Amino acid sequence: MPTALLLVAVFLLACRISGLSPIFQACQLQKPAGVSPLVGCPAGTILVSQTHSEAVFSSVQKAVLSLPKTGKAVILVEEGEYHETINITRTDPVILLGQLSPHTAFDPAGNASSRNLVQIWDNKFVQTGMDDAQSAMLIVAPSFNASLIGAGPTGAPLQPLFGNVDFRAYNIDFQNRAANFSISQALVTDISYANASFYGCTFASYQDTWYTGRNASTYVVDSVIFGQTDYLFGFGTA
Ligand SMILES: *[C@@H]1O[C@H](CO)[C@@H](O)[C@H](O)[C@H]1NC(C)=O
Ligand SMILES: *[C@@H]1O[C@H](CO)[C@@H](O)[C@H](O)[C@H]1NC(C)=O
Ligand SMILES: *[C@@H]1O[C@H](CO)[C@@H](O)[C@H](O)[C@H]1NC(C)=O
Ligand SMILES: *[C@@H]1O[C@H](CO)[C@@H](O)[C@H](O)[C@H]1NC(C)=O
Ligand SMILES: *[C@@H]1O[C@H](CO)[C@@H](O)[C@H](O)[C@H]1NC(C)=O
Ligand SMILES: *[C@@H]1O[C@H](CO)[C@@H](O)[C@H](O)[C@H]1NC(C)=O
Repeated sequence: MPTALLLVAVFLLACRISGLSPIFQACQLQKPAGVSPLVGCPAGTILVSQTHSEAVFSSVQKAVLSLPKTGKAVILVEEGEYHETINITRTDPVILLGQLSPHTAFDPAGNASSRNLVQIWDNKFVQTGMDDAQSAMLIVAPSFNASLIGAGPTGAPLQPLFGNVDFRAYNIDFQNRAANFSISQALVTDISYANASFYGCTFASYQDTWYTGRNASTYVVDSVIFGQTDYLFGFGTA
């Protein structure tokens, strides 16, 4: 991953717990030509791909926006780079699965950086008048107001809604590629009034990479957070 070159602070968690899911691995592994990528996936899994004819969506966020209000949703993202912001306001569970290669997924010397085939990225950064939240490329919050961060020790006003009860991502790189230098705040995550967990993921940006907001609980397993300035901040439980 390119951003790794300039980002020096590396936060590596729980190496002994594998970032591979025994439940979703069969779905995530790339299949031989002619075999549907959805073989081994939970019923109803939505395929996102820029190239595969079976995919209904070529954008992850379009797949998210297509979800019904209720029910657990699983989205399989094929290998590739996706330039977009992901914004999850839905309350019911959402699981994003990154595709994996059978050749690299099980390398004992591997890690999230060397294993992941899916990069989702955007490049917004905070300019005058913007809330930090508006630069995030992965937002899990019930409303725009609930996603706001504000400033100072108390931050933005408290909000009445709770968002996603179980957002999960497996084996995906989330990146804010605004700059390789201190341009201003350029967040990767804004998880507010929501519960989220990540397995074998990476998160990279220069400044303010990771934000766990009000009433949020976040859990990160076998993942890597790359950042340079203030790369972990927030009001929640991580
Ligand atoms: C991930 O693995 C690659 C290849 O083994 C290695 O070069 C890199 O330093 C590792 N990164 C971390 C953060 O451990
Ligand atoms: C996320 O989506 C909600 C619902 O469409 C919208 O109100 C909100 O402004 C979006 N958040 C951001 C930060 O764009
Ligand atoms: C969001 O917050 C602003 C400013 O506090 C307020 O004027 C607006 O009504 C709020 N919007 C919603 C949908 O609650
Ligand atoms: C946020 O947490 C506070 C303190 O636990 C609680 O009183 C409040 O109801 C929570 N708000 C939401 C929207 O979950
Ligand atoms: C969110 O996670 C916290 C901490 O694990 C838990 O106490 C809370 O019940 C969860 N909220 C929901 C709505 O599932
Ligand atoms: C950051 O550095 C990488 C590796 O040198 C480069 O590919 C990328 O274009 C740079 N990004 C920006 C926004 O300058």
